Amino acid sequence: MSSLFITFEGIEGCGKSTQIERLAKRLAKAGRDVVTLREPGGTPIGETIREVVKHPPGTEPISPDTELLLMNASRAQLVQQAIRPALAGGAVVLCDRFYDSSLAYQGYGRGLDLAKVQQAIDLAVGDTRPDLTLLLDIPLAVSQSRVGARRQTTGEGQDQFDQSGDAFFERVQAGFHALAKGEPQRFRIINANQPPDPVSDEIWNAVKDHL
Ligand code: TMP
Repeated sequence: MSSLFITFEGIEGCGKSTQIERLAKRLAKAGRDVVTLREPGGTPIGETIREVVKHPPGTEPISPDTELLLMNASRAQLVQQAIRPALAGGAVVLCDRFYDSSLAYQGYGRGLDLAKVQQAIDLAVGDTRPDLTLLLDIPLAVSQSRVGARRQTTGEGQDQFDQSGDAFFERVQAGFHALAKGEPQRFRIINANQPPDPVSDEIWNAVKDHL
């Protein structure tokens, strides 16, 4: 069976993890080999980088350039160690975030030059590009209330990104919309501001065309 590379994008609290788990089950039931991964992370090296970017050690803030390079260092490792081998074996790869997150967060969000962000991405991924990108879309206010509720249940503290402020997330959100508009053949915008079942159905409709 031919491989398929699907990435999930969206702002915090959009439901990516839940939906990836549901889609993985549905694909496995349909007889497909499924590999689920996340960014930053997904390999031992990537998970170590994840900890550094989410909770930078020391008192100095992490610079946007450092953040960009660390995200893409994690990505280069993931592409080489996990994504390419899985695709070569004919699997469906589901990745929780991929390079669109660097364009949205480091480019639109932090204000780095988009061409520079693209250069780092190109170095990290080469010709390994998603076949389909699902943008789980929710309003910013919904993101904030879901993240707040999750933090209360898990007792989780804030990370580097949670502390970036509302204006930052507005730029990230606008960035995702601009990216989706720029590549309508790769992106599908999913209305994630509804209960999990209808979201899963919208996702399945988008994915089944590619199987
Ligand atoms: P999450 O996967 O738990 O949402 O956490 C990852 C955080 O890292 C999230 O705030 C988005 C951010 N991020 C970037 O800023 N750039 C990237 O390239 C990636 C993959 C994630």
